Amino acid sequence: MDVFNVGDSILYCGDCHEVLSGFDRDSSTGVNVLDSIITDPPYGLSKVVRWGSFAGKRKRLHAKNRHDNNRRDKSWVSADIYQGIDWDDSAPDVTYLLDYGVPVMLFGGNYFSNLPPSRKWLVWYKGGSFKGMSFAELELCYCSFDGNARLITHVSEWNCGFYHTGTRGVKVHPTQKPVPVMQFCISELPKGSGSCILDPYMGSGSTGVAALELGRRFIGIERDRRYFDIACERLESAYRASRNRRLLFDNFDKTLDKTLDKTLPVKTLDKTLPVKTLF
Ligand SMILES: C[S@@+](CC[C@H](N)C(=O)[O-])C[C@H]1O[C@@H](n2cnc3c(N)ncnc32)[C@H](O)[C@@H]1O
Repeated sequence: MDVFNVGDSILYCGDCHEVLSGFDRDSSTGVNVLDSIITDPPYGLSKVVRWGSFAGKRKRLHAKNRHDNNRRDKSWVSADIYQGIDWDDSAPDVTYLLDYGVPVMLFGGNYFSNLPPSRKWLVWYKGGSFKGMSFAELELCYCSFDGNARLITHVSEWNCGFYHTGTRGVKVHPTQKPVPVMQFCISELPKGSGSCILDPYMGSGSTGVAALELGRRFIGIERDRRYFDIACERLESAYRASRNRRLLFDNFDKTLDKTLDKTLPVKTLDKTLPVKTLF
């Protein structure tokens, strides 16, 4: 099994049941100390969705719009991502994830009938362009912990799955989640959790990118080699970018401290801003 380390995060290429069987169930020891699970498992949609037909539609749209220079968006989703989908024939039983005793967030919660009742669901409204299309307008994320239900209003970066309208990279997985949506999920985890997040159905690694951008540790598992390689690349560049940002801000803070020390002594402030002038 291939393992890829990014900073202190770990990505495994393999079946999640096999990988997780090597983890401690109480998740309190070893390198795999996880305190939350956020995941987007297969929903078994291949029974109702003909993924291959999206590839044909996308190719036709691309041919039609190829020469339109007024189109803001030139970065097309590859047709290939809708081909050869062999992982979505059935939805797995995901209740085993609840046995870890950590907060669990589960996209596609409405496809799983055996989850315990919960007051807290996240509803992701994907935007008006999905209305009346063969794509869902909403996605539902089940939360295993208590709290108020919340609405995520981030408009999908991939308009109807065909082209990219955002700024956060091209679509490389047929059911790829936008990073801001995954960041919202992380922000909804109960206080005291979310320092190490597990995604056992990682796909292209959106949960991991969101986690790294927020300075959290991540453990990801993906069975399909194509998606695993993509996730490794995405996480590595997210890690580099957030490390560079940290370095930049650390240096900026130090420079700013020195400059402030020199130019704004408390005495000067006393002189130039007497309380009287404020009123
Ligand atoms: C719905 S997709 C996740 C997409 C992801 N949210 C993203 O943003 O790219 C589910 C993923 O789970 C993977 N998968 C399915 N069964 C698995 C298993 N038993 N172990 C590990 N990965 C699995 C599939 O290959 C697929 O990439």
